[in-house]
Amino acid sequence: MNGATQPLQIGVVGCGYWGSKHVRVLASIPGIEVSLIDRDETQRNAMANSYPVKYSAASLEEVLDKLDAIVIATPPTSHYALAKQALQAGVHALVEKPLTTNVERAVELLELADRRGLCLMVGHTFEFNPAVWSLADAINEPEFGKVRYINSARLNLGLYQQDVDVLWDLAPHDISILNYILGSRPSSVSSWGLKLMADRSDVAYLSLRYDELDVSANIHVSWLDPMKVRRTTVVGENRMAVYDDMAEERIRIYEKGVKAEGQSGTVQAEVPMSYRHGPIVSPFVDFKEPLRLELEAFKTAIETNSRPATDGRSGLDVVAVLCAAEVSDRTGQWVPVSYGDEPSIDLREPDACSVDDRVLSGVAQTSAFGVNEGAI
Ligand SMILES: NC(=O)c1ccc[n+]([C@@H]2O[C@H](COP(=O)([O-])OP(=O)(O)OC[C@H]3O[C@@H](n4cnc5c(N)ncnc54)[C@H](O)[C@@H]3O)[C@@H](O)[C@H]2O)c1
Repeated sequence: MNGATQPLQIGVVGCGYWGSKHVRVLASIPGIEVSLIDRDETQRNAMANSYPVKYSAASLEEVLDKLDAIVIATPPTSHYALAKQALQAGVHALVEKPLTTNVERAVELLELADRRGLCLMVGHTFEFNPAVWSLADAINEPEFGKVRYINSARLNLGLYQQDVDVLWDLAPHDISILNYILGSRPSSVSSWGLKLMADRSDVAYLSLRYDELDVSANIHVSWLDPMKVRRTTVVGENRMAVYDDMAEERIRIYEKGVKAEGQSGTVQAEVPMSYRHGPIVSPFVDFKEPLRLELEAFKTAIETNSRPATDGRSGLDVVAVLCAAEVSDRTGQWVPVSYGDEPSIDLREPDACSVDDRVLSGVAQTSAFGVNEGAI
């Protein structure tokens, strides 16, 4: 449909809080024409009054044949059906986080996109955040030493979501940041959530084991906190790094550490401790709006027929961790993460093996929300 000099036709499905930001940024990127798809006419009208818009429709099917690509910014349980509809029609898709709420369906989307030669991208916005790039650079310098552990907190008096809990709403950001800066993905997860003000978790704690790196990470997410906190702390052998998205100096590297005197290894209780207090460095971060970088990457991937950094696989990796976390919350056990590539399980037959069977066999794949996920 799109000739070399024709503008790329991109529809934003869901023009609410986050979709409206996609519309704003897309409207400012040369070579793109934006269409609005939202079942709520007032949302569409608000956008159409502020930005140049090609088409406006209440449902995707009304305009799908006029589009080259879509951005899906609807509630998470609708992502799968909308993405499948687009990919089946030969339309590229950028799906907001989480890609799906079920591993099998994420795998299905990946396979569909690959078969059709289409771009499937996930909105892991923090992987386009220059401060996160700077954090990755800092912890991967040899002087940082081995990463000992990571702590990540994403707290706020947050908006209670209708279709997912705080784990699925906020933790995708932290998991994608950790996977990105470590260049790895967790092998097992332990998680517990608290249902304080609603019938779904509004506070959750996750522990992740990155076995191949021998690194542990903890994540705390909350919709019920007086402070807005977006902070990731990485403790290394020689240095410590803090990424605070609320601070003016987003990245700080601390020349701080502690060692048992005369030893380089693990601290023994009876050995005196020696503390190092050195300078604190805040590297300059050439900040650009992450959503703009993400959408430019989507456009480039479509035009050059290449994989974007946050491709469907990266979306699946995060969904798999969330599914394992959910099982851990129910069972109170550490759960190995299944990334959908185990040869022993036929992922196209989700009913072939129940969640309980998977827990017993140490494999977690299905989310509680997956039940409703097919609805658009
Ligand atoms: N990447 C990020 O930093 C980030 C930040 C916030 C939200 N998000 C994600 O964005 C998505 C949307 O979140 P939100 O807070 O903007 O939600 P929202 O409720 O504010 O907006 C959702 C919009 O989608 C519309 N909608 C729902 N189903 C539809 C359908 N089938 N067809 C057409 N329109 C439909 C609704 O009318 C609504 O206007 C979620 O997946 C969320 O996780 C991502």
